[in-house]
Amino acid sequence: MTDKRFYLTTPIYYVNDKPHIGHAYTTLACDVLARFKRLDGYEVMFLTGTDEHGQKVEAAAKKAAVSPQEFTDSVSQNFRDLTDRMGFSNDQFIRTTEPRHYRASQKIWQLLMDRGHIRLDKYAGWYSVRDEAFYTEAELVDGMAPTGAPVEWVEEPSYFFDLSNWQQGLLDHYEANPDFVAPQSRFNEIKSFVSGGLKDLSVSRTSFAWGVPVPGDSEHVMYVWLDALTNYLTATGWAEQGGAAAGSLYDRLWPADLHMVGKDILRFHAVYWPAFLMAAGLPLPKRVFAHGWWTNEGQKISKSLGNVIDPLALIEEYGLDQTRYFLMREVPFGRDGDFAKQSMIQRINSDLANDLGNLAQRSLSLIAKNLDGVMPAFPGLDDPADAALITRADALLDQLRDAMDRQAFHEGLRDIWEVIAEANRYIDTAAPWALKKTDPARMAEVLAVLAEAVRQFAILVQPFMPEAASRLLDQLGVAGTERGMDQLGGAARIKAGQTLEKPSGVFPRYQEKEEG
Ligand code: MSP
Repeated sequence: MTDKRFYLTTPIYYVNDKPHIGHAYTTLACDVLARFKRLDGYEVMFLTGTDEHGQKVEAAAKKAAVSPQEFTDSVSQNFRDLTDRMGFSNDQFIRTTEPRHYRASQKIWQLLMDRGHIRLDKYAGWYSVRDEAFYTEAELVDGMAPTGAPVEWVEEPSYFFDLSNWQQGLLDHYEANPDFVAPQSRFNEIKSFVSGGLKDLSVSRTSFAWGVPVPGDSEHVMYVWLDALTNYLTATGWAEQGGAAAGSLYDRLWPADLHMVGKDILRFHAVYWPAFLMAAGLPLPKRVFAHGWWTNEGQKISKSLGNVIDPLALIEEYGLDQTRYFLMREVPFGRDGDFAKQSMIQRINSDLANDLGNLAQRSLSLIAKNLDGVMPAFPGLDDPADAALITRADALLDQLRDAMDRQAFHEGLRDIWEVIAEANRYIDTAAPWALKKTDPARMAEVLAVLAEAVRQFAILVQPFMPEAASRLLDQLGVAGTERGMDQLGGAARIKAGQTLEKPSGVFPRYQEKEEG
């Protein structure tokens, strides 16, 4: 076991609807990071799952004329299927309807109660079922939630969490932990929200029943966000093992290293969740990253506009690795971005098919043709052009590590592609195809430098495009045990003398289908 550990989470998804691109995007970002950390020698725990309680889900079940449990069983399965189809490498898939999650939710409730942070009162105010959030009169815009969701007036007995007492505690925590929330602009919004003062938070409901029962008061179910946020603890075995001897899963994993969320749910993760944890006397997660939202060809994505993007349809049309690459490369992570078909095609044909695909295919087929498929020996780097390319390739690991630790996925890929461009210039200048007759020894050196560069690119892109990278590494004769990040930065090189399999392109061009 290693002490390099990394625990990261996606939001758990509401099961009122089919999975769409937003869901796939958040989980994909976590998948890329989880894969990178595993390849970089970490013990990783990558958690995703479904958020199954609350009024929204209860209403969706009613509409489908089935019990909430039957309804959530079937919709939760859609999310699991998406996980498989997208090749996500999550270690657990949690459902908030599992008994272990009831235990954890009730345990945190009890702790908050015992420590004097929950009291019974009455709630009178606005509630949005779509957002599962409470709003004050002042927050409403034209009678709607600030998110545009409809609101309803709610008046009922409710337990309250003393959020107002945590303003200073939160501000102190933000001050002491400048990387707690990213991107910085979003962190500033959170700080100013908290500086503006916090009101106590209603944390139970009596007007519906689909939730975790409040311990000791069966009239109430827990507010769905208190229940939902607790999933991050549930999965560590906290209810069973919290406070147990060193070495328990909880002890190894908590606090989480990263909660990845969309910008719309940052407040729940960066304000309410840390306040609950502080009040319960538990350590806070290290970081919350809020990513942006996708639009579709410039338009806001919505069911009513009928422009929801189905991630499975994207995979079908463009390929899994291509879709993964596009989503991580096209938009600076943290910003909003637009899904445009032409940009997708451009990325596939230019970055993948031309830049990396052709480079690999040209290099490998020259080895096949001119060297009988036998990997040449890696040269001493006396030639300045060889040294320049390999030095840049060797530097990529540190660059990628840094980008990954900032969740700057697009930067990581951009850095890799800059060196791929350099390798393409190298092959054009060195023109190994012309050296066969004139200087076969030099040709072998050039091909060795190229094979080494491609080996490094293939290892580096594994987290983003696991399938294509693995096929490329197979073609380069790289053993399964030699694909970790510890094989980069000059620590290893191509192995001379092996006979390589016949190369075949791993990044096909996208051909637009003829109309009609
Ligand atoms: N159940 C809550 C999360 C609880 S976490 C303790 C929830 N679920 S959700 O299913 O509505 O949304 C999940 C995620 O999808 C959010 O992070 C949200 O930002 C993301 N997206 C929804 N639409 C999106 C886009 N159009 N683009 C990118 N992400 C989007 O909220």
